[in-house]
Amino acid sequence: MKTLLLPLTLLLTLASATPIADPTATLHTPDLHRRQATTTSSSPTSTPSAYALPTLPYGLSDLEPHISREIVETHHTKHHATFISNMNLAVRDLQSGNITNIANILSSFRYNAGAHINHSLFWLSLAKTNSTQAMATPSREREALSSLTGQILSQWGSYDAMWEALVEKAKELTGSGWVWLVRGPGNLNTVEVKLTTDQTPMMDPWTPIFCIDLWEHAYYPQYKNDKMAYLRSIKNIINWDEAEKRYSKTKLSPVVGTEW
Ligand SMILES: [Fe+2]
Repeated sequence: MKTLLLPLTLLLTLASATPIADPTATLHTPDLHRRQATTTSSSPTSTPSAYALPTLPYGLSDLEPHISREIVETHHTKHHATFISNMNLAVRDLQSGNITNIANILSSFRYNAGAHINHSLFWLSLAKTNSTQAMATPSREREALSSLTGQILSQWGSYDAMWEALVEKAKELTGSGWVWLVRGPGNLNTVEVKLTTDQTPMMDPWTPIFCIDLWEHAYYPQYKNDKMAYLRSIKNIINWDEAEKRYSKTKLSPVVGTEW
């Protein structure tokens, strides 16, 4: 039996009922959590488990006091894991060859795969509290080593001003979604703060540098309804080394057509 196995990014594009921008837009996926789908073609009844929950790059308590252990554990092992489980169910349904319910299958795949991509990048966007990667205030000293820091200082004058712009942008989100620092559009060196709603990933012409989960499950157990307090606190654990790599395009993700 020939297994239907399409690249995740391609499936996401196919499943997109309302393209975000250019229909030829590509979608960026975090490197760490790309996983080549595997098949066991020797058995026609076997179901490939294409995507798995990524291991966190730090301990459950390492983001405290900014994000509690309880939140990290639930967010990772419950929320993120469920998105992956649902995505794999959609893949299984696609592989079944029965397309009677194709609209629902693609809709489920698009939503859950978007959530998987976003959460994978979210975990990478953060670093241990007080680690060298988490530098709350990129400085003029760091500017010499970091083109991203230089760009931020050039555009906003200070890191704090950039972060306030991010907080203000987040206030525009009326429901659930994500706030991003992105590079672009295209090959421009400029950076911008942007939002996506629900579980929509960042797509071309923008290149994600980091993202922050603005769903209530990301902060409510600790911050209750004070989303702004969460945003001001999480600023202390942004992984600037990772952000710099993404800005410098040394760790960018594949685009549509690339299997992962
Ligand atoms: Fe989340």
